[in-house]
Amino acid sequence: MAAEIRGRSFLFLCLASVVASQTQPNNDQKQILLRIKQEWGGEPALDSWNDDTSTTYCHWPGVGCAADGSVVNITLSDQTWTRITRPIPASLCDLKNLTHLDLSYQRIHTRFPTSLYNCFSLQSLDLKQNGFVGAIPADIHRLSPRLTLLDLSGNNFTGDIPPNIGRLTAIQTLWLHANLFRGSFPAEIGNLSRLQQLGLAYNSFAPMRIPSEFGKLTKLTFLWMTKANLQGEIPASFAQLTGLTQLDLSENSLTGAIPAGIWGLPNLQYLYLYSNNLSGSIVIDGTIGALGLVEIDLSMNRLTGSIPDDFGKLKKLSLLYLYYNRLSGEIPASIGKLPSLSTLRLFSNGLAGVLPPELGKNSPLVDIEVDDNMISGELPDGLCDRGAFNSIVVFNNTLTGRIPPSLGKCSKLNNFQIHNNRFSGELPDGIWSAINLTTVMVSNNTLSGTLPEKLPWNLTRLEIENNRFTGSIPSSADRLQVLLGSNNMFSGELPSSLAGLLSLQTLDMGGNMITGRIPEDISLLKSLNELDLRHNRLTGEIPASIGLLPVLTSLDLSVNHLSGPIPWEMGNLKLNYLNLSYNQLTGKIPATLPSRAYDQSFVSNPGLCASNSYVNVSTCRSESGGLDRGLRNLFFVLGAVVLLVVLAFAIYARRDHKKKRNGGDLAAWELTSFQSLDITESGILRGIREENVVGGGGAGKVFKIDLGDRGVVAVKKIWNCRNLGSRLEKQFQSEVQILGSIRHKNIIKLLCCLSGADSKFLVNILLDSEFNARVADFGLARMLVKPGEPDTVSVIAGSFGYMAPECGYSTRLNEKVDVYSFGVVLLELTTGREANNDGEQCNLAEWAWRQLEEGAELTDAIDTAIRDSPYMDDMTTVFKLGFLCTETLPSRRPSMKEVLQILLRCHRPGGVSYSPIAEQDVAAPLLRANTGSRRQKPSHGGGGDHDDNIMACDV
Ligand SMILES: *[C@@H]1O[C@H](CO)[C@@H](O)[C@H](O)[C@H]1NC(C)=O
Ligand SMILES: *[C@@H]1O[C@H](CO)[C@@H](O)[C@H](O)[C@H]1NC(C)=O
Ligand SMILES: *[C@@H]1O[C@H](CO)[C@@H](O)[C@H](O)[C@H]1NC(C)=O
Ligand SMILES: *[C@@H]1O[C@H](CO)[C@@H](O)[C@H](O)[C@H]1NC(C)=O
Repeated sequence: MAAEIRGRSFLFLCLASVVASQTQPNNDQKQILLRIKQEWGGEPALDSWNDDTSTTYCHWPGVGCAADGSVVNITLSDQTWTRITRPIPASLCDLKNLTHLDLSYQRIHTRFPTSLYNCFSLQSLDLKQNGFVGAIPADIHRLSPRLTLLDLSGNNFTGDIPPNIGRLTAIQTLWLHANLFRGSFPAEIGNLSRLQQLGLAYNSFAPMRIPSEFGKLTKLTFLWMTKANLQGEIPASFAQLTGLTQLDLSENSLTGAIPAGIWGLPNLQYLYLYSNNLSGSIVIDGTIGALGLVEIDLSMNRLTGSIPDDFGKLKKLSLLYLYYNRLSGEIPASIGKLPSLSTLRLFSNGLAGVLPPELGKNSPLVDIEVDDNMISGELPDGLCDRGAFNSIVVFNNTLTGRIPPSLGKCSKLNNFQIHNNRFSGELPDGIWSAINLTTVMVSNNTLSGTLPEKLPWNLTRLEIENNRFTGSIPSSADRLQVLLGSNNMFSGELPSSLAGLLSLQTLDMGGNMITGRIPEDISLLKSLNELDLRHNRLTGEIPASIGLLPVLTSLDLSVNHLSGPIPWEMGNLKLNYLNLSYNQLTGKIPATLPSRAYDQSFVSNPGLCASNSYVNVSTCRSESGGLDRGLRNLFFVLGAVVLLVVLAFAIYARRDHKKKRNGGDLAAWELTSFQSLDITESGILRGIREENVVGGGGAGKVFKIDLGDRGVVAVKKIWNCRNLGSRLEKQFQSEVQILGSIRHKNIIKLLCCLSGADSKFLVNILLDSEFNARVADFGLARMLVKPGEPDTVSVIAGSFGYMAPECGYSTRLNEKVDVYSFGVVLLELTTGREANNDGEQCNLAEWAWRQLEEGAELTDAIDTAIRDSPYMDDMTTVFKLGFLCTETLPSRRPSMKEVLQILLRCHRPGGVSYSPIAEQDVAAPLLRANTGSRRQKPSHGGGGDHDDNIMACDV
């Protein structure tokens, strides 16, 4: 009985121990995982790692278990899921069977976690795309001897790669690319006899050669060493890399010849050696072994000699890039027989002879670029036989004959560049029905034929200069940006409406036989940058609407039969180049156009005259109404300078001040209101008090007058003891009337005008509280200049420093006047000087220019109060900008858009905020000149001057 009981209890004990041995390790694994979670700071994505018994830890996200419940995988690589920032906990290696650890795409910024040396079962360790720093430890070989994959790419590791890495003998994949290594990589990598993939690319190693030991890596399939600062020769031992399928040593400084053995590698499919200094010729010893080559890119080296005929044996070759080398001889005809060839780029070599006659017949050819060689003969006629062909670039050769009619049936054709050759005959009609066609460049051949009325919808660039095209200009091409058709035999009129060509940026049809008028609706072409219709037979007047082209910078209408006046609206244009010579234009040249930059722009128009001697035409005979114009200018200047609604009124002479301030004799005032607002004379007059003065100028004081719930207005009081006389009085009234009704972008509406008997006050606007006094302080006093006073110009320009010099002499002012005034404000801000300092002999702009002329340091001109501030660079930039804006010649001043662009460039975080839309808008015309790809460089760039200005301002 006792024995029985003893036996039972023994059995029970046995059972208990079996249960324990099954649950104990599992519990253990779970506890380790919970500890790891804790050390990772309760990473929210790991919330489901918890004590809740309903899910086994083997089903926790990122955890993988073996059949016995031991954790073998931790995979937290999904960057959208976890963002671990804490260090890797040492307890990870308590998971004794951990085999795969993947913590890629996290934000761990520690040094290399040497605690992982204790993960004895680790086979793969993936830590790519974190922020690990420091060197890879010299004892890296202490990682698990079973490690087959080590991925440390995309981190911030620095220093050398330690030689001991060569002792991780099980390694098959070693990714160390895209780190910050600046030292060396060891030849010992050559000892990794099982290595299949090696990535050292994109590291700034100290310049070094490829160790010849790498030739021992016979299992290697992928060697990736792009941009790794390699120099010297490719080791001859590379001929032993018989497993290699992909070799990429591009963008280094490798020299010498390509080892002949490379061509014998039996498995090689991708060979990229572009952008090195490789020289010598491509030597294929005897039979080529690498018959599986799919892509060869040896471009941008210094290879010489000819293209081996043996390339014709590469039945799988799809891509062959040999451009930018010094290859000579003929392109082997065998290339035309390759059954897989799709892309052939051989441009910028010294290749001669004819193109392989069978090119395109035997393979799904997509594009060829063989430009800039000395290739002769005709284009092969089978290029598009397989229907995949879309791009032909053969310019700068000596090709002859007709364009093969088969290209007219090439429905995918997109890019057609055959310029600078000796082609003749007509373009195949079918070309114009290729719906994807975007670029046609055929200039400088002797092609003939006509263009269709409607060009393909996608066409953006059509260059056909210097050929023999006839007929008229197409009237429809929705996306056409560039049409260069000069020196052909086009005739007929310009399309009667340009509405079908709304995307045009450059229109050059000079040297044809175009008749008729320039269409009135030319102003529809809002993107037009350059218009060249020189040497045609155009008649009629220049339409005034041409002045509405917002980005036109170059205009050539010379040598035509244009007549009538030059529309004054052309003064609105911001032109770098203008040529209206050799026409029959008459009348006076608009006053804003003449400048030294245009001195030849108007010659040989016998009926033209100018108001100054800058341009080579006769001076207009005596002008009447000078004061008239002066007054109008004045209003433009006012607008230019800014933002103020002007309210003008006169007061009695000085001696009567007191009486008026007391509100007396209101009957003597007349209020002219331009807006529906209930401002009253008395309200304004009551505000004219010393304590309300916010600024003063040569002509009078500026008052800030609070009209209670009607807001705050600024009033500029202009007084003059002299009686204006009835003529000027009328003038004053009519000019104020103009100002009141004007809708100029820079002029805020004039509210009203108060006018008295004896003398005048002119006032301003609703003002910005900071700037008002200053900016209000200019201008309108010119009105008070006495009739017949001789020195009008110098009085105005001299005493009112914000005014551009041309205000004195020209009748039509454009917004460059505003730019000048703005520039003065910038100079004020940076120098701390006043625009018009009574004690100085000249105004601020002149002073600044003189400072520079006298060789003063730029920084000396800057306000001493801010000279030592951390913003000195910005200040200097703004000062320079002020400088540029106050150029004497209006055409040399930048446009306001460019000014904004420069200021945006100076923009620093925390500075003035700006709208990205505005920036884009501004950048567009400036950047347009650079929009073409390398293959499509616009030969007629516009806006160069603007860029220069910008650069000049950029510190
Ligand atoms: C562990 O990860 C490896 C490599 O990602 C994978 O092949 C294997 O299926 C995973 N095993 C488990 C149990 O999750
Ligand atoms: C690890 O795996 C081995 C078999 O490979 C197994 O015997 C052992 O129990 C596992 N260890 C743990 C802690 O689960
Ligand atoms: C890593 O290097 C990049 C580039 O030098 C740097 O921007 C980044 O802040 C660095 N990250 C860490 C964690 O050091
Ligand atoms: C084409 O040839 C012309 C004239 O020889 C040369 O000015 C031009 O730079 C060449 N084009 C290219 C892209 O090399």
